[in-house]
Amino acid sequence: MRPMTIRTARETDYDAIAEALQSWWTQPGFDTPAAARERAALVPRLWLQHFAGTSAVAERDGKLVGFLVAFFSADRPDEGYIHFVGVSPSARGEGIGRALYERFFALCSAAERRRVRCVTTPGNEVSLRFHLAMGFAVDGGDAKPDYDGPGVARIAFVRELDAP
Ligand SMILES: CC(C)(COP(=O)(O)OP(=O)(O)OC[C@H]1O[C@@H](n2cnc3c(N)ncnc32)[C@H](O)[C@@H]1OP(=O)(O)O)[C@@H](O)C(=O)NCCC(=O)NCCS
Repeated sequence: MRPMTIRTARETDYDAIAEALQSWWTQPGFDTPAAARERAALVPRLWLQHFAGTSAVAERDGKLVGFLVAFFSADRPDEGYIHFVGVSPSARGEGIGRALYERFFALCSAAERRRVRCVTTPGNEVSLRFHLAMGFAVDGGDAKPDYDGPGVARIAFVRELDAP
């Protein structure tokens, strides 16, 4: 992997993350203005105001190349949840996504959170393959219809963490 640093996110990272949400999703179907608006709505500034401590950014030469927005579940004391992840198209396949996830797994383990969940949109094949490579299983074995409202299916992932 080329030199890169990963650190805890801060609210001041929000502008760079918002810009990345507009421009990094290059897969067909995810590269439309409507899809970019939907991502922007999914990650408003509040995530960096209230969940920065469990979120992370990857930087190279002072520039954002990856981010992970995640939190410890308030209602499920043994779970962590990854809300969003992105790696710059020019930095994919280098292990940055893996490093961001493993950092969060370590935070969860240290906080005695034994399970991590996240969801993705059916059709996002890269995301599906990435999560399977990261040791996630598809909860229920298939996409869940109407998971996030009428007509909005999701694939729900779950990964058990090893006991330390
Ligand atoms: C998904 C994403 C975060 C992966 O980041 P990345 O830094 O390229 O991934 P890594 O290099 O760390 O790869 C980690 C593992 O996932 C696998 N993987 C990553 N991209 C893959 C692809 N396109 N096809 C198949 N496997 C892939 C790798 O093989 C690797 O497995 P290994 O370590 O066992 O070899 C990145 O492609 C991305 O930002 N995509 C667009 C945004 C998105 O779809 N986010 C997820 C849904 S919100």
